[in-house]
Amino acid sequence: MSNTDALIEIRNLSKTFPGVKALDSVNFTLRKGEVHGLMGENGAGKSTLIKVLTGLYQRDGGEILLESKPFHASRPQEANNAGISTLYQEVNLIPDLSVAENIYIGREPKKFGRIDWKKIYQDAENDIRKLDLDIDVTEPVSSYSMAIQQLIAIIRALNLSARVLILDEPTSSLDLAEVKQLFKVIRKLKNDGIGILFVTHFLDQVYEITDRITVLRNGKFIGEYETAKLPRLELIAHMLGKNLDEFTLEQQKELKTKKKASDSDDFLRVENLQKKGAMNPFSLEIRRGEVMGLAGLLGSGRTETARLLFGIDKHSGGSLFLDGHEIAISSPKKAIDQNFAFCPEDRKVEGLITELSVRENIILALQARTGVLKPLSPKQQEELADKYIELLQIKTPSRNQSVKNLSGGNQQKVIIARWLATDPVFLILDEPTRGIDVGAKSEIEKLILQLRDEGMAILFISSELEEVVTCSDKIAVLRDRNIIGELNGEEMEVGNIMRVIAEKEAVQ
Ligand SMILES: Nc1ncnc2c1ncn2[C@@H]1O[C@H](COP(=O)(O)OP(=O)(O)OP(=O)(O)O)[C@@H](O)[C@H]1O
Ligand SMILES: [Mg+2]
Repeated sequence: MSNTDALIEIRNLSKTFPGVKALDSVNFTLRKGEVHGLMGENGAGKSTLIKVLTGLYQRDGGEILLESKPFHASRPQEANNAGISTLYQEVNLIPDLSVAENIYIGREPKKFGRIDWKKIYQDAENDIRKLDLDIDVTEPVSSYSMAIQQLIAIIRALNLSARVLILDEPTSSLDLAEVKQLFKVIRKLKNDGIGILFVTHFLDQVYEITDRITVLRNGKFIGEYETAKLPRLELIAHMLGKNLDEFTLEQQKELKTKKKASDSDDFLRVENLQKKGAMNPFSLEIRRGEVMGLAGLLGSGRTETARLLFGIDKHSGGSLFLDGHEIAISSPKKAIDQNFAFCPEDRKVEGLITELSVRENIILALQARTGVLKPLSPKQQEELADKYIELLQIKTPSRNQSVKNLSGGNQQKVIIARWLATDPVFLILDEPTRGIDVGAKSEIEKLILQLRDEGMAILFISSELEEVVTCSDKIAVLRDRNIIGELNGEEMEVGNIMRVIAEKEAVQ
């Protein structure tokens, strides 16, 4: 049953890990010149399918055809040589090397046994021009935005014979304009007849760029659909195996309206806090039982604000008051002593210890606070771990599974769990739902509102404005490392946030 348009045909593919059937007889077809979305909840098997296809993992059963011929890669280089270019989620460029060096690293053109620099630069120029990009290939990679870096990584992945491009969550750290740029390149490649496999949790992007969608659930093939004929709610229902609780959405609205910000005094007050070069002076107030949202484009200063409040970056001026008393947050240790918690944006770098188990990662921050001299008992540890595995629906065969074996989204949930376990008075969440599937995302939003109702003060940062509006009691809007406005009550609408950002831009 071979399809002449098909680049890749996968039939009955299976892969089992100890305790987990990651792929259970999965089918998938990628055609020439199409963008194909691979969708499913965290842990559904998307990355595993890609890794088996590219030879990073070996399959237990099933068949893969590449242009109608049986295909088997025993390592990624073989897949690459066969024309399958893959961009895994982490971009592994070397920041200090030039763009050209990054593109040709490991396969530098040589002349008389030495690296032929002239040729490297020329070849890199050609590659860049083919994609209509304007990049100086002699500049270090670090001088470009994440989006450009992503594109450079794609250029590196694409070799001359590339027929297939695989992108596993390439947009999770890009802003809207950057995603546009990436999509332009994807469309161009598609017109050249390349088949593109695209994984993301952003539904808007799936509907904008894909032609067809394959849905996996719990390692099983659920179906293949034409994007244009698949309503969003149906897609979600296929992914979750149930209708996304209308109830959940209703409940969220209720939670949100149920409670106005408490009349209590300010819990946390910030006056003219600043860090030269990173964040201009800003002031804000958060009460107990209140969620303050931070909205703004990438690079507007959201994360910088959070880092100052948690003492990761030292401020160069301004003061912080807790219940009216000035406090010094000069280090994360001081913040943790005040029972603050910070769930960082870049969880891979700043958070997880992937060699440790789910349980060990979850109890880490709490244990650090109580001190090594007072270790939590094994029973306490187990109870805490199980509580958060259940609460955040972390998909793992056991609490003792090492975190490196969890899917990307489930690793992120572990970090959120770690900070929730400290039962903080003030919780900073920087992009907590990045890489998290639609179902779990709405659970996390619900949880934020519940914690708020229990009296926690929360600072919530997200690039998804709808989500900021849903979860926040008030919203500070940032631009160019300034807080340029605050929205309250009825004013809190996506359109208004965008207007505030744009207006100020027009003024400057
Ligand atoms: N090396 C491994 N060892 C053990 N289990 C693994 C390993 N890799 C993946 N798994 C398990 O296989 C299942 C599928 O994981 P996979 O990474 O494919 O999910 P995913 O669909 O990519 O999810 P996400 O959206 O979170 O990235 C998960 O339950 C995961 O824990
Ligand atoms: Mg994945």
